[in-house]
Amino acid sequence: MSTLKNKVAIVTGSTSGIGESIAQMLSNNGAKIVINSVQSIEKGKKLASELKNAIYIQGSIGVEGDCKRIVEETINHFGQLDILVNNAGQTMRLKSDDICDISNADFSYLLDTNVVGTWCITREAIPHLKKSGDGNIINITSCAGIDSASGSSSIAYSVSKAAINQLTKYLARHCGPEIRANAIAPGVIMTPRTENFDEAVNKFKTRTPLKRTGAPKDITEFVVAIIKSDYINGEIILVDGGFATV
Ligand SMILES: NC(=O)c1ccc[n+]([C@@H]2O[C@H](COP(=O)([O-])OP(=O)(O)OC[C@H]3O[C@@H](n4cnc5c(N)ncnc54)[C@H](OP(=O)(O)O)[C@@H]3O)[C@@H](O)[C@H]2O)c1
Repeated sequence: MSTLKNKVAIVTGSTSGIGESIAQMLSNNGAKIVINSVQSIEKGKKLASELKNAIYIQGSIGVEGDCKRIVEETINHFGQLDILVNNAGQTMRLKSDDICDISNADFSYLLDTNVVGTWCITREAIPHLKKSGDGNIINITSCAGIDSASGSSSIAYSVSKAAINQLTKYLARHCGPEIRANAIAPGVIMTPRTENFDEAVNKFKTRTPLKRTGAPKDITEFVVAIIKSDYINGEIILVDGGFATV
């Protein structure tokens, strides 16, 4: 059933992994999609051409002008915006096990991209999501933003995801009743990004009660569920096999 028919969604960082899977799932449910990435332009155009009603817009969430342009081009093409999935985000592994082993420049880069970038495209989208009257902001954060024991991530990454969790609550408080804001905080999900993270993957499997990693569909099914469940607001939903909870 096309439950999201007549909805328009931007999925940032949607040429790979979780974002690609979310874009496909929203499209399968009838939504019109904006595929986005920075570098993988050809892949983005190909994906957009394969979906029923989709366009590709290149741009980085870490660049203010790009955020404005991504939203403007969406409105110019589709005439509306109903769903913003803030999936794009950078990771930075520490060079050693020493948490101090990160420069100010690297810390700032991660906060700028992940936190300020997510905020920036959200700010540009808010007037259009309000106009929709049934706007949804879904932030893809991480269990690393909740549980400091998730040793696979850098300190800056964890702090950035914690900040987006808080941003989610703030948006939920201030953007209603026309907009709901929720976050999904995944554990380790097998994507091109994590396929070489052997040590982190093994640590995660050992500790998480389900003893396995997740797949992108574990996240995408929740994105659709959040959009359909129109009384969910301000939630940070862990999808990590119980890793951060027990
Ligand atoms: N995989 C996991 O285990 C896991 C766990 C917890 C949270 N997450 C979060 O889930 C999200 C997706 O992760 P993933 O594993 O699916 O990553 P991925 O496979 O590396 O895909 C990342 C996507 O984001 C795009 N991108 C990167 N920087 C961008 C920017 N500044 N602006 C716009 N697009 C950008 C990439 O395209 P280009 O490189 O071509 O720009 C690509 O399409 C991230 O926010 C990540 O932190 C992932």
